[in-house]
Amino acid sequence: MKAVTLNTLKDWKAAGEKFSVITCYDAAFSQRINEAEIDVMLIGDSLGMVLQGHDSTLPVTLDDMVYHTRAVKAGNSRSLIMADLPFMSDPSQEALLNNAAALMRAGAHLVKIEGDAWLAPGITELTRRGIPVCAHLGLTPQTVNQLGGYKVQGRGEAGQPLVEAAQKLEAAGASLLLLECVPSEVGKAVTEAVNCPVIGIGAGPHTDGQVLVLHDLLGITPGKVAKFVKNFMQEADSIPAALSAYHHAVKNGHFPSEEHCFK
Ligand code: KIV
Repeated sequence: MKAVTLNTLKDWKAAGEKFSVITCYDAAFSQRINEAEIDVMLIGDSLGMVLQGHDSTLPVTLDDMVYHTRAVKAGNSRSLIMADLPFMSDPSQEALLNNAAALMRAGAHLVKIEGDAWLAPGITELTRRGIPVCAHLGLTPQTVNQLGGYKVQGRGEAGQPLVEAAQKLEAAGASLLLLECVPSEVGKAVTEAVNCPVIGIGAGPHTDGQVLVLHDLLGITPGKVAKFVKNFMQEADSIPAALSAYHHAVKNGHFPSEEHCFK
């Protein structure tokens, strides 16, 4: 199996081919995800909620992210590996560069950072030093306290600023964008406004890639599940079969369907 790179994702976007992304936190799942041919693995700071049992991602540390990135890297050979910069990873430009470097040394091929257009200078510095970046926009869980909850973003007049922020971040050097919890029309507008691939979660069917949290997809999430989640274990008789069903549903454009989208 040929390894997936950022160039693969760009070629797929140009050709209109969708790609699958899933969160992963350890070597055993990394191997199963590799076997299911899922294209990108995200070591998400969602591990603070699904592994550590916190009610937000804020307690996750850089050491946690490095530990889990090493474990995922050890189990995988094909998927592109993306690791989250946790809450307050960029109190200064120097700290941002050092924290991102730690994730790359642990095995990430690129880092993901949450924010908005203000991320642009940091993204430019990272990419200048050979660290590709995915900018996470829309619902940014690390700012849940400021947002007042895990709510849909970009509704009505708030849609256009998201499109503009996406363009600024691409111009600053972002290789990928991730859009969380926005109306499908905003997902479409952002995807069409930039050349880099856009990954969606609760952002409708038009984004180039789709991501789900592993535990959501397997139906073992502690607590309430979001509207955009589909439990693929309901139609599968094993974990490998559920992972494979997710991958094919994304590739064929069958997931997400309307019931998983916001208007
Ligand atoms: O941390 C994470 O798992 C994420 C996904 C929700 C996209 O950022």
